[in-house]
Amino acid sequence: MRVLSGIQPTGHVHLGNYLGAVRGWVEDQHHHDSFFTVVDLHAITIDQNPAELTKAVLELYATLLGSGLDPEVSTIFVQSQLDEHPALAWLLECTATYGELHRMTQFKDKGKGSESVRAGLFTYPVLMAADILLYQADRVPVGEDQKQHLELTRDLAMRFNHRFGRTFVVPEPAIPKVAARVMDLQAPERKMSKSQATPLGILYVTDKPEEIKKKISRAVTDTEARAVYDPEKRPGISNLLEIFSAVSGADPAELAERYNSYGTLKSDLTAALVAELEPVRLRTEEYLADRGELVRIMRKGAEKARIVAGETLTKAKEAMGFIVA
Ligand code: AMP
Ligand code: TRP
Repeated sequence: MRVLSGIQPTGHVHLGNYLGAVRGWVEDQHHHDSFFTVVDLHAITIDQNPAELTKAVLELYATLLGSGLDPEVSTIFVQSQLDEHPALAWLLECTATYGELHRMTQFKDKGKGSESVRAGLFTYPVLMAADILLYQADRVPVGEDQKQHLELTRDLAMRFNHRFGRTFVVPEPAIPKVAARVMDLQAPERKMSKSQATPLGILYVTDKPEEIKKKISRAVTDTEARAVYDPEKRPGISNLLEIFSAVSGADPAELAERYNSYGTLKSDLTAALVAELEPVRLRTEEYLADRGELVRIMRKGAEKARIVAGETLTKAKEAMGFIVA
């Protein structure tokens, strides 16, 4: 079975990205043929400062390696280093309809019908479909918010196969059950997110132990005497219990019973998070300290990816009737 997933280089990797995505990928790589990509071409659907884009890509790639993705085990690559992605996206765009792209809720949210919205933001889901179909991925681990894009990917793959002959594997989404939604530590009714971050509400995997301690100890809970796991009525404490559960493996309701003070729960959670994240932070810093080596690892990843992507692109072009040079 082949697994592929992608993450955008927009801001540091936060606890939601880590628990909801990256940590699962680290696990996946040992069980499946795995491809992971930094989708930098997706990042330019909104205005990007070039120097910041470079920095964000290096940082994200280093964080993925620091989190335990192993370039010897899986293929870890930067999307823009493979021209196969925009090339296949064009072929797919010419099979997708305006209507189906217009229904994508993420476009509606981000675009808000403004005239200055980039055309690339509109066609973004087709580029995502190309990312997936180029590698003939069977399974795509993504968060809830990406389900609609995966549906489109499946529709485009089936339509292409039907019209031009079997070319693409039709992928299945894989939505993680544990920590599918890590909430903001200050506003637990909304998702932890780079776009709406409050300074204390978002925990980065590269935060130092003192920062983790500060953010967890100031996390919003409630004024009840005891911890109870009830995401609806007690979102703050339940979010902490879910995070604790994700890093310890214990059930959130059981964890709630174990603690009669929020103070001890928070300090034990801090210790568990530091134990999980401190090695990630240190390894990430090591990778970032040697940019030449980091770029070499990236290039090797791109070379490995190109073997598969090139073959699929050729197959798709030939199926459509293009004369491949
Ligand atoms: P994004 O940062 O939105 O590009 O997301 C990258 C990956 O992290 C995707 O698989 C998301 O579904 C996942 N993710 C983002 N925010 C959260 C969150 N608060 N909780 C769980 N997973 C998340
Ligand atoms: N659209 C995804 C997001 O915003 C990122 C992404 C791009 C992706 N290409 C992908 C995810 C391919 C999985 C597979 O999170």
